[in-house]
Amino acid sequence: MSEREPGSHAISGRIYARIAGTGSYLPDKLLTNDDLAKQVDTSDEWIRSRTGIRQRHIAAEGQTTGDLGYEAALKAMEAAGVSAADLDMIVVGTTTPDLIFPSTACLIQARLGANGCAAMDVNAACSGFVYALSVADKFIRCGDARTVLVIGAETLSRIVDWTERTTCVLFGDGAGAVVLKADSETGILSTHLHADGGKKELLWNPVGVSVGFQADQPNGGARIKMKGNDVFKYAVKALDSVVDETLEANGLTQQDLDWLIPHQANLRIIEATAKRLGMPMERVVVTVDRHGNTSAASVPLALDEAVRSGRVQRGQLLLFEAFGGGFTWGSALLRY
Ligand code: UT7
Repeated sequence: MSEREPGSHAISGRIYARIAGTGSYLPDKLLTNDDLAKQVDTSDEWIRSRTGIRQRHIAAEGQTTGDLGYEAALKAMEAAGVSAADLDMIVVGTTTPDLIFPSTACLIQARLGANGCAAMDVNAACSGFVYALSVADKFIRCGDARTVLVIGAETLSRIVDWTERTTCVLFGDGAGAVVLKADSETGILSTHLHADGGKKELLWNPVGVSVGFQADQPNGGARIKMKGNDVFKYAVKALDSVVDETLEANGLTQQDLDWLIPHQANLRIIEATAKRLGMPMERVVVTVDRHGNTSAASVPLALDEAVRSGRVQRGQLLLFEAFGGGFTWGSALLRY
């Protein structure tokens, strides 16, 4: 924890973690479906109709996950009115860290000048932000931290096989962040996290430090491999079940929700979850058309866009959900 004593301004009664500010960052470079159709055997029509994606942002050469996360963090901190010295902890959800170590959270911490507070990465693939938010929520609720910066940031373009049409059309780069503050007013109501490591080979990167790399392959063999159809089916079921679990645990029904802010992997998956919830698409935040699948960055990117456009208002009930490699999946229900 930071040198500032987290417990020194103790809140009497129950402590909630509330979102005090949001921020996001997308790299400048745009890659359209037509651009991709020049590289692999695909078409704008196929990509749009199967995924809803029109374009994605791609990090510039040398621009890292930490760079994107840092920019998103600055905006979230400005929106929350907190300085680096206020931070008790930084948690970064990412599968594409800058380095093996130090963690991307440590790299961002140093750039922010928040040295001294706790900092760690959470790897839960596309569920990384929901997992990171859950960790931060627990630290705040138990009184060990009062102000936590939670970031979802990815440069998935670095592990995309740009010759493989079944995956390269899906992913994009970006970062989103929130500042959570301890508050006596309701904030995060619950988080539910799940994983099924038995399904690892349906969505994975087959190489790594300990397993080893493939010297004869580009990028050492690092690449996203996915059995899209199987992932699709499993994702829809898992998301339905975690949404039910969340509402039931809070004694709520779908009518109580103001906004669904889902992981942005595929518009068809988002529509299936919304339909099951009986939520009209006007109450679902969709960014997949412009961002593609940014993995751990997708939920905070969508949240920030909805907050800054004035759609998401204070006091509204938001449901976040995500599904990704591992498999991992989870939800967060919160009063914004
Ligand atoms: O964020 C983590 C979680 N990830 C996800 O949730 C992704 C889940 N999966 C999906 O979103 C979808 O399964 C995909 C978008 C990946 C694929 O859509 P699909 O409707 O499941 O297509 P498919 O894999 O069944 O492929 C249908 C056809 C195949 O051709 P044949 O065998 O029918 O002749 C593919 O070879 O489409 C072909 N295809 C393509 N054609 C043009 C696959 N990729 C492409 C492409 N362009 N990019």
